[in-house]
Amino acid sequence: MSATPVKVAVTGAAGNIGYSLLFRIAAGDLFGPDTPVELRLLEITPALKALEGVVMELDDCAFPTLAGVQIGDDAKKVFDGVNHALLVGAKPRGPGMERGDLLKDNGGIFGPQGKALNEVAADDIKVTVTGNPANTNALIAMSNAPDIPNERFTALTRLDHNRALAQLAAKLGVTVSDISQMSIWGNHSATQYPDLFHAQVGGKSAAEAVGDQDWIENTYIPTVAKRGAAIIDARGASSAASAASATIDHARDWQLGTGGKWVSMSVPSDGSYGVTEGIISSFPVTVADGKWSIVQGLEIDDFSRGKIDASVRELVSERDTVKELGLI
Ligand code: NAD
Ligand code: LMR
Repeated sequence: MSATPVKVAVTGAAGNIGYSLLFRIAAGDLFGPDTPVELRLLEITPALKALEGVVMELDDCAFPTLAGVQIGDDAKKVFDGVNHALLVGAKPRGPGMERGDLLKDNGGIFGPQGKALNEVAADDIKVTVTGNPANTNALIAMSNAPDIPNERFTALTRLDHNRALAQLAAKLGVTVSDISQMSIWGNHSATQYPDLFHAQVGGKSAAEAVGDQDWIENTYIPTVAKRGAAIIDARGASSAASAASATIDHARDWQLGTGGKWVSMSVPSDGSYGVTEGIISSFPVTVADGKWSIVQGLEIDDFSRGKIDASVRELVSERDTVKELGLI
């Protein structure tokens, strides 16, 4: 095992996602069995006692990869020297709400956390925002951390990507490993666009393999885009284990690379594909040497153009709202 542990901060560590995420990280699922990790767990003061209980359970697992755990309610202490920050802590939506309805309540969390990361995180800090509305919260954190390069701020659309794979595999009777080049464009919201025109199955486009535009438009896209609400409806609480698993997939692939494979990440737009520069929007990306790159040169047909533009419009309006709220 290498000597220096990777320091991973998790916010909202006593919450539902935290309860799944921490054990996966501690077990070595982020960086593999040879890399020790030190957990830095941030919570609000009233949740610290519950968090102490979770830490007792982490101890009781005797994970060989877990090099240490620190907890606290002071972001500047908890984030000191961290290499990865997984910003999960935020309120989840309830039935009948859209994720954007959380902006007012949750937006205020991410400015101070961005500032704290700016002051004390390690030089190689990578930030993944899971707390909703994830894309715009990531924009808030990024805007409050002027010394950290913008490309180190990302938001989670990997859960949507994984949902898109699972729904397509079920439709075609194939396994998720038979599918490549899946992508989610836009916002982690009901306007997101899971793209079957670039996804490949058995050497042809997934849209061709499905051969049913009506199913794509009226069943597949809404099922993937509204899956979070369907889970809230069924479980009475928002997705937690699958969100933790996707957060691991995202951060692991960002650190270790994708070997040419496409994944979906919400990243600061450089204007590629006409997506407004500076907003944090989902794209197909590949990762090498710890750096993501937006897949370039794709042809975007009119149908996809309309879907991407609608989601980008929503992100621009969220950006304008947080600007008005003085959060960026
Ligand atoms: P939860 O309510 O169970 O836990 C949230 C935790 O965050 C609580 O323990 C709370 O005390 C803590 N918290 C609140 N403010 C904080 C702050 N300023 N600093 C540190 N901790 C703070 O919620 P959950 O189910 O774990 O979900 C967390 C967030 O993740 C929600 O916003 C949810 O909507 C979002 N989510 C995103 C995705 C995604 O794909 N991007 C998927 C699922 C859930
Ligand atoms: C999800 O996609 O499951 C989460 O973002 C939770 C939600 O509010 O839908």
